[in-house]
Amino acid sequence: MNIVFHSGAFDLQEWRQAAQTISPALQLLAPEEIAIEEIDVLLIWRPTLTDWTQARNLKLVIGLGAGIDGLIRQLRLPAGTPVERMRDAGMRQAMSEYATYAVLHFQRNFDQFRQAQQDKVWLPHSPYYRANRDTRVGVLGLGSLGGTVAQHLSQLGYSTSGWSRSGKSLAGVATFAGETALNEFLRQCDILINMLPHNAATEGFLSLNRLSRLPQGAAVVCLSRGAVTNENALLEHLDNGHLRGAMMDVFQQEPLPATHPLWNHPKVWVTPHQSAPTQIEPALREVMDILRERGLD
Ligand code: GLV
Repeated sequence: MNIVFHSGAFDLQEWRQAAQTISPALQLLAPEEIAIEEIDVLLIWRPTLTDWTQARNLKLVIGLGAGIDGLIRQLRLPAGTPVERMRDAGMRQAMSEYATYAVLHFQRNFDQFRQAQQDKVWLPHSPYYRANRDTRVGVLGLGSLGGTVAQHLSQLGYSTSGWSRSGKSLAGVATFAGETALNEFLRQCDILINMLPHNAATEGFLSLNRLSRLPQGAAVVCLSRGAVTNENALLEHLDNGHLRGAMMDVFQQEPLPATHPLWNHPKVWVTPHQSAPTQIEPALREVMDILRERGLD
């Protein structure tokens, strides 16, 4: 099985070394080390080479991330080539940690303390302390990562709900399903965590109108794809005082342009798409599982 690794973001040598420690049979080739017609499997992430139509023997493409929306748009493949993605690769744990940090940030008023520090104001009694069970966290999108985040927060004792287009059932999570339940879901989120994938149905999903359904003083945490949030609408609700703050890891344009108002906004925390990076060893183990499932090992 000829497995080619190609990424403009990940380092082949690092992945090769890890592959050797996992299984000597897992040989990763650079595209220039093999004729394109001889490639069986392509491992790919943030590609600089996008035209693979000449890879006539290609049996499978594996995107080395959780969301392959961008990859699918970019890649040109022989017709009918299946594309798989990472289901975990260490991202479930990492995403849960980031979400926990974001929830604690607003729950324990770090946003207000930062402002008070800048103003050199000592806030002894307010803002008030709110226990986990009194903090209503809503996870929008209950796929592999969103579902894990919701369950993690529920296990920490947060009053956790989740919304998905089709109904999901998750222990400890109050679930809402479909368009008709969306407003009811949004109305009860003190902290909304956006985990929706980007597709035609979710582009600009967090609109002015939908964001207005959140309770006064709610916070928004964006962890899936930037295109799901209408950033102008978000800024409008931050500026008109409806929203308390936003912690954002993903943006409509990445890297976030230097002139973008989100960089300097006093109610916004920006991280550079780092909530849950793919981790090499777990990713390679998952690659081996996928190859096994498809009889390509
Ligand atoms: C990163 O954004 C990923 O989809 O893994």
